[in-house]
Amino acid sequence: MSSSRILLIIGGGIAAYKSLELIRELGRRGIASRVILTKAGAEFVTPLSVSALSGEKAFTELFDLTDETEMGHIELSRSADLVVVCPATADLMAKAAAGLANDLASTTLLATDKPVLMVPAMNVRMWEHAATKRNVARLRADGVRVVEPDVGPMACGEFGPGRLPDVSAIVREIEAALAPPSKRLAGVHALVTAGPTREPLDPVRYISNHSSGKQGYGIAAALAAEGARVTLVSGPVALKPPEGVTFVSVETARDMLKACEDALPADVFVSVAAVADWRPVKASPKKLKLKGQGEAPTIQLTENPDILRTLSAKRKGRPRLVIGFAAETHDVEALAVEKRARKGCDWIVANDVSGDVMGGSENEIFLITPDGTEHWPRLAKDDVSRRLAARVADALTGPNPGLRLAAE
Ligand SMILES: Cc1cc2nc3c(=O)[nH]c(=O)nc-3n(C[C@H](O)[C@H](O)[C@H](O)COP(=O)(O)O)c2cc1C
Repeated sequence: MSSSRILLIIGGGIAAYKSLELIRELGRRGIASRVILTKAGAEFVTPLSVSALSGEKAFTELFDLTDETEMGHIELSRSADLVVVCPATADLMAKAAAGLANDLASTTLLATDKPVLMVPAMNVRMWEHAATKRNVARLRADGVRVVEPDVGPMACGEFGPGRLPDVSAIVREIEAALAPPSKRLAGVHALVTAGPTREPLDPVRYISNHSSGKQGYGIAAALAAEGARVTLVSGPVALKPPEGVTFVSVETARDMLKACEDALPADVFVSVAAVADWRPVKASPKKLKLKGQGEAPTIQLTENPDILRTLSAKRKGRPRLVIGFAAETHDVEALAVEKRARKGCDWIVANDVSGDVMGGSENEIFLITPDGTEHWPRLAKDDVSRRLAARVADALTGPNPGLRLAAE
């Protein structure tokens, strides 16, 4: 980590002064900062203080011939391992979400090929405004890591989420973003299911649900990044399978169960797919036809196989760690605790799908393990995936795996 360098963009917020402390703290840890100060940022901290702490001149202007000959804006955007925006103002995030490029900071954000971490800080009303929420969701969907702000009293006298996190917490986020994947899951086989299933009524109609597959695909990618050999069994979705995973495409719940059984043995099974609970008893081989006014066919349903329970209950060849997902619209935690017991799995990741979770790019979850319940803050689905992959690695490979299997 000693040779890491970040490109720090300081926006025009009241918390900008903390970015000076951030530069110093990073320097102590061997992380060099090259700094872009926006016009508004320079109202709060001076280029002189920034360059005194970073040891380099602070960049401020897009149209500066001297800067362009020394280091062009494209070169600047590629000159670090990570781009950090701190504080990320509502304005800067709106520009980045829209892809605007009308000053040095926004042009750099559009031109960079490096990962981007944003640390927002603003008034609670600004943070909770529908436009900011939209922009944050857009940025996360575009792969930007947006840190959740702290909750507390604000400089403006109001109270709520919007405060810049402590500098030590920001340093931890930066170090995590700079750290290469640990590959702690090398040698582990992970089986992941994702997406919906489709249960045919006739050759053109089916019963299904709104699952987008994003969370399951994210988890498969995160497990692969940790070094696991991953088999991803997926229902029909509009996503590209992550690089390097073995991909099995299925339609129905019964196909999905068979593909999972064929993929065993596995060390960990993560059942993210939204498997249809029921299917029509009989799928008509011919398209069902309108019979007459007011006469609709009656469709009789039967239960689908329970993939999570089937794999959890295996006496021989049960994965060492079985993780189920619970999508609920109410009483999320209580229902998930009950589901863990009923399914016989080790952990349940529970989320509230009453909002836009199923198609969206963010998720707020409860992780239920034999040791209790953890509530994770609202995170990008990719961040949920990385956290979960790290927890799987702790459980399977940590010094004290602490994995109490439900079957024990
Ligand atoms: C005293 C003062 C404090 C401000 N604090 C914040 C803040 O904490 N967060 C924010 O998003 N905007 C804040 N603003 C508004 C921004 O400065 C303004 O939207 C500016 O255009 C942002 O520029 P930037 O895109 O370069 O960050 C503040 C403005 C003033 C005058």
